[in-house]
Amino acid sequence: MMGLTLFASLSLSAAFAGQGKKKPPVKAPPKDTKAMIAAGMKVYNAKGCGSCHKIGDTGGETGPALDSTGVDPKHTAKWFAEQIKNPKSHKPDSNMPKYDDKIKGKDLDNLVAYMVSLKKK
Ligand code: HEC
Repeated sequence: MMGLTLFASLSLSAAFAGQGKKKPPVKAPPKDTKAMIAAGMKVYNAKGCGSCHKIGDTGGETGPALDSTGVDPKHTAKWFAEQIKNPKSHKPDSNMPKYDDKIKGKDLDNLVAYMVSLKKK
């Protein structure tokens, strides 16, 4: 009787140990968001967004300050990408230039990551 109980608990713990080892398949490492934001900041500066937008103390005032543009729940990555590619898609009489043929691929992804990160309160 004792022997059976011991055997049962041993095989039970063996089963649990086995479960612990079963890890999900290794996924690709998450994108390095910090690096994307840093790269996006460079795109922002290189494309002259700051001539119309202020972040911190620097920039123009033709467009809204962007310090906390990432706070609005409407402002998803997709929304920012659309705003940058074609501002008229959000505001038909927008004064902001469209950048659809000037900023694309990685540059656009990085710039969008930077916009999403702007959450000063
Ligand atoms: C010629 C001026 C001008 C330039 C250059 C400009 N923008 Fe804008 N931007 C605006 C104006 C004006 C708005 C206000 C909404 C509109 O008219 O589309 C705006 C709106 C935005 C918004 C939405 C802000 C919010 O919180 O509602 C984002 C984000 C933005 N611009 C990002 C950029 C980025 C990134 C660049 C550079 C690639 C850029 N803008 C270049 C004028 C400009």
